[in-house]
Amino acid sequence: MDSAGWDRRYTGSELVWSAGPNRWVQEVAADLPAGNALDLAAGEGRNALWLAERGWTVTAVDFSAAGLARASSLAARRLGEHADRLQLVEADLREYVPVRHGAALVIVAYLQVGEQVRRHALRAAADAVAPAGLLLVVAHDSDNLAHGVGGPQDPAVLYTAQDAASDIEGHGLQVLRAEPRTRDITTDEGPRTAIDAFLLAHRP
Ligand SMILES: C[S@@+](CC[C@H](N)C(=O)[O-])C[C@H]1O[C@@H](n2cnc3c(N)ncnc32)[C@H](O)[C@@H]1O
Repeated sequence: MDSAGWDRRYTGSELVWSAGPNRWVQEVAADLPAGNALDLAAGEGRNALWLAERGWTVTAVDFSAAGLARASSLAARRLGEHADRLQLVEADLREYVPVRHGAALVIVAYLQVGEQVRRHALRAAADAVAPAGLLLVVAHDSDNLAHGVGGPQDPAVLYTAQDAASDIEGHGLQVLRAEPRTRDITTDEGPRTAIDAFLLAHRP
């Protein structure tokens, strides 16, 4: 989907994603000391806002102006005098170049794009990780299509944690975890299990 498509999706009255952080982001970051974070494909900013509330200084990048506008109004409400902890950047990840080694935590959550754009974005994300910093990539796993629920139904935009690990090879990160993770969710048809790709890597 292009930025106009995402803008349309974010222009309704409801939040498209949850107000709180993604569970994998929460699991990884809950006990980390606050520092600089970079959230690529940040959408409405649920992860970036949560980090900023915990004292992080966050750069949130997305190509949807509508998604970022929503993040901005949420920031005004939730961060108050600390609204400057969140910097919103409207940019296309096909071109965006983050500060090299500039972030203690880099998040790419549910960026579901074709292989070429994904590889480019994940390599840029890897290069942004500071020494001793972490890269977290979460996505709807390729396996989610046949054995999970929800997420994009186009196999071309799905990937595994191993795919993500291959993408960042040679960019100086050590992979700590690269695995599928299951998420129990409630649907109109009852409880279901979604399958996510989970990659955690760090720069030694
Ligand atoms: C499924 S949403 C995930 C949003 C957020 N990471 C989250 O977990 O709530 C995917 C996001 O990727 C963004 N996106 C897709 N392709 C992009 C690109 N080429 N450059 C920048 N953002 C992009 C979309 O605008 C959208 O906000």
